[in-house]
Amino acid sequence: MIKIAPSILSADFMRLGEQVLEAEAAGVDRVQIDVMDGRFVPNITFGAVAIKSLRPLTRLQLEAHLMVTPPEDFIKCIAEAGADTIIIHQEATPHLHRAVQQIHALGKKAGVALNPSSPACLLSEVLDDLQLVLVMTVNPGFGGQEFIPRTLHKIRRVRDMMQERGINCEVEVDGGINLHTAPQVVKAGANVLVAGTAVFDSPDGIAGAVQALLSACASFEPT
Ligand code: DX5
Repeated sequence: MIKIAPSILSADFMRLGEQVLEAEAAGVDRVQIDVMDGRFVPNITFGAVAIKSLRPLTRLQLEAHLMVTPPEDFIKCIAEAGADTIIIHQEATPHLHRAVQQIHALGKKAGVALNPSSPACLLSEVLDDLQLVLVMTVNPGFGGQEFIPRTLHKIRRVRDMMQERGINCEVEVDGGINLHTAPQVVKAGANVLVAGTAVFDSPDGIAGAVQALLSACASFEPT
């Protein structure tokens, strides 16, 4: 089943709560919260306080995408703020296995993200422990960037690695996902599509944008 994960990075922060509730009403099961530290990526956004403020407002899964280094220093406060899933970057720590264990010890789902230059094989020693793999389809740090077409092969490789091991965890993609690229990533094996600009900047409104993305993928299922 294809899922859309609106990224609040592109939301109107004067109306953040309202827009998250609109996304919930549109039928998504999660929103993604892009936590950036200005060090791992060249941008600073928000931290645990944003998650803490959204937590009591919505029943949606809150998915924290930690673009921070070292992630180990932030996992606990993000978990305590109310995140359901914590995604860390493979590139952000030399102790990836231990960081995934730390997320699980706090009772949260664990995801690992790969930057465009990082090959899928870097996941091989932790893949069996994950609930989600996030294939970045842009270089992390900003919304509204152009999709990187060569990441399609990596999406396929990640899905194949899972199938070889009989694993059915989520393959999520993030960056430049729109009506044109959505079918391509689903065909390659993705089943969760993070979308910021395509959802929050759409003339169709949040619900209309979510439905349009789902319709664009309707004839494809990740294989
Ligand atoms: C990059 C961010 C963006 C955002 C979605 O670090 O993670 O990918 O979530 O951006 P767009 O606007 O491309 O959907």
